[in-house]
This record gives sequence, C-alpha cells and structure tokens, in this order.
Amino acid sequence: MYRNPIFLALDLPRLDSAETLARKVAGHIGGLKLGLEFFCAHGHHGVREIARVGLPIFLDLKLHDIPNTVAAAMQSIHMLDPAIVTVHASGGRAMMEDAKAAAGEHCKVVGVTVLTSLDARDLAHTGISDSAHDQALRLADLAHSAGLDGIVCSGHEVAAIRAQWKNGFFVVPGLRPAGGKHSGDQKRTVTPREARNAGASVLVIGRPISRAEDPLAAARAIEETL
Ligand code: C5P
Repeated sequence: MYRNPIFLALDLPRLDSAETLARKVAGHIGGLKLGLEFFCAHGHHGVREIARVGLPIFLDLKLHDIPNTVAAAMQSIHMLDPAIVTVHASGGRAMMEDAKAAAGEHCKVVGVTVLTSLDARDLAHTGISDSAHDQALRLADLAHSAGLDGIVCSGHEVAAIRAQWKNGFFVVPGLRPAGGKHSGDQKRTVTPREARNAGASVLVIGRPISRAEDPLAAARAIEETL
C-alpha cells in the first residue's frame, strides 16, 4: 500500500525546514506524519505544502470531543485527503463510530489508547484503577468494536494486540534503530525491524532521521533493515 512502512514524523517548527527534510528523504520513506503542533502552527496550508512532496499524509491530531464535533472535524480535514488520522479511543464508542463514518473511504482512522506519558498514578488521578497496560487493551478492544481500522501501540505490545485483532492496522512509534544514539542505554528499545516482525503496519520515526547528521543516510539505513 505504501512504498515502505516508515512514516517520518515532521516535528519541526518551521514549514520550510519540514518540507526540505521531507524532500530529502522522500525516496526512502513511505509517508509523512504531521502532528498537532504542526497543524496548529501551519493549518491546511501547511498540510497542502507538505503533500506536494507526493507521499501519503498521516494527520496525528488525536481528536477527542463529542461525536458530532469530531465528525465535523473529520469532514473538515477530508479535503486534505489524509491517509491516516488519529482519534482518542477514550472518547468512546459513538465518537469513534462517527469519526470513522465521516472519514474518507481511503482514510484509516486509528485510535490512541493510553498516552505513554501517563503512568498508573496519573490514571488513578483520573479515576482509572487499572494498570496502563490493561486500560490500553480495553481501549484497543473498544476501538476494534467501534469499527476503527487499528490503534497506535508500542513495539512491545503490537504482537499481543495483533494476536487478538488479526487484520488490524497498527501504528508503532517510539522506535530506535540498532546501534543508534539511544539504543545502548538502559531503556528497553525496539528497532524498526523488530516492530515490523511483531506486526506493525506503520513505523513512526522522527528524531532518528530528523536529528541525524545525515538524514538521508539514516533513512536509507533504516529502510535497508526492513
Ligand atoms: O521519538 P521520535 O522522534 O521518533 O518520535 C516520533 C513521533 O512519535 C513523535 O511525533 C512523537 O510524538 C510520537 N511518539 C508517540 N508515542 C511515543 C513516542 C513517540 O506518539 N511513545
């Protein structure tokens, strides 16, 4: 469907820098991810500029509101023809159903379960007594039953979730190439290849490419591992 599963996260404040980077590595990635920060700063104009690079666009807007508002927002971004859009699974079944119904036929709607910035204590403060893991699995089930295409999950969870949701579309961020800057420290990291083997549909990769001394070489090297 895409040239390869790598979606480059264009988390750069300047539109011209984002476009330059996207053009530089375009031959070695499958798509471009634009987040809330980019969208708030550059809006539809910015998305259209980046779309001129010619790659599928992933709008990571993490929509979360009443069903009517989320559906209207989906209709408003329809004209940008995104390949993938995210919504918060915690917005509930009706919100997800309406988001999916309002999305274009070719647009994957993907649920965010529990943000990795939240731990069990943060969840407890919002009234959720389960672990982040259990809550993520529950929201994955809800997203599935609401008719979403898939969810965002970590490279550690994707195999278990794929086992329950065979034809799901799984977006995996938080990846670090083998031998990269952060792979030698104590943090448990997953490489793009490992995530792919575990069942990831899309690999979201930002800084390992955008902050590399040579982004083109970095993107090419990651592509070669897949
Ligand atoms: O860390 P890196 O720069 O590769 O992150 C790429 C993208 O993945 C960023 O846009 C970030 O917001 C997103 N991300 C995420 N969940 C994580 C880690 C990163 O959505 N746990």
